[in-house]
Amino acid sequence: MSDFLLKSDIAEICHGLGPVAEEFTGKTVLICGGRGFLGRYFVETFAYLNKHALKKPVKLVVLDNLITAGREGAKFETVPHCRFQKHDIIKPFRFKERPDFILQAAGIASPYYYRAFPLETLEVAIQGTKNCLNLARSTGAKILFFSSSEIYGDPDPKHVPTPESYRGNVSFSVVRPFNVYGPGMQETDYRVLPNFANRIKADLPLKVYGSGDQTRTFCYVTDALRGFLLALVKGLPGEAYNIGNPKPEISMVELVRISECVLGRRVKHDVVEYPDSYPADEPNRRCPDITKARLQLGYEPRVPLEEGLRRFYGWADQSYTGTQSA
Ligand SMILES: NC(=O)c1ccc[n+]([C@@H]2O[C@H](COP(=O)([O-])OP(=O)(O)OC[C@H]3O[C@@H](n4cnc5c(N)ncnc54)[C@H](O)[C@@H]3O)[C@@H](O)[C@H]2O)c1
Repeated sequence: MSDFLLKSDIAEICHGLGPVAEEFTGKTVLICGGRGFLGRYFVETFAYLNKHALKKPVKLVVLDNLITAGREGAKFETVPHCRFQKHDIIKPFRFKERPDFILQAAGIASPYYYRAFPLETLEVAIQGTKNCLNLARSTGAKILFFSSSEIYGDPDPKHVPTPESYRGNVSFSVVRPFNVYGPGMQETDYRVLPNFANRIKADLPLKVYGSGDQTRTFCYVTDALRGFLLALVKGLPGEAYNIGNPKPEISMVELVRISECVLGRRVKHDVVEYPDSYPADEPNRRCPDITKARLQLGYEPRVPLEEGLRRFYGWADQSYTGTQSA
């Protein structure tokens, strides 16, 4: 197993699945975007299940064009029952294995990168997902598409916490992650927590963009992975599920304060304008309503923010260099 993720987190995800894990015994899972932050968790989770839980191994086929996979994503260690193929899913694909499940987690997730690669962002979401859907149709595989809380835009305050039925300006399926974080995020990811961890490592003041009053909620990666796999196995076709942790909803300035408590020391910060590399119209508030995932999937986040931040900052202190400052 890669040393880049916390072994105890992978065990936590697998134990949290309970009997749902058995659904994967002897099955084949295609993971698109399998060298990204979430994709690498899926690979390690299934590898752990193969080693410790399943009667017959789950086979993995991992596709990624490595566009934003970073240094860690590009390193691929041999994992039993897992085949990696460098492939851009915008182009058609077909292979000898017949998938039972498809995880469409290929996409451009960080605002910095979707500004840098706007057409690639559109194409992977549309053409890449269409190719996955065609494969699902021809094989009968069950597919889970990674949409985003971004789909809700900047919701009207009376729709925060935001339920799946709130249409925003568009409507689409299926899991909508709300700010997942944890070990394994690239130092050059440019989402808020890797940015903070990079600046802490470099002993530089944190940069808080905009007014600092914009709110987010943060979902620790072990909770998110359990939610995604529950949605894959128990989710109803065509339905969307918010996967996140609704508590606490905090401003970015409060995130600095909580980080100080977790680190046990003062951390300076500057409130600065959004950089040009950031998209305009960042939402003011973002907080999921997870009632539907609770009721239909039995999903409940378990890792409190302080505990998740303790694990993430501890890991980043060991893994980040602080040299490429964000
Ligand atoms: N992590 C979160 O909190 C979060 C929140 C909202 C949405 N999502 C969505 O979930 C998915 C996974 O998120 P993540 O955090 O792992 O992102 P990530 O950027 O770490 O990983 C995405 C992976 O997809 C790959 N990829 C991109 N385009 C591709 C293509 N055309 N063909 C093959 N591979 C391609 C990238 O190289 C990368 O390895 C993304 O679609 C993202 O938008 C994630």
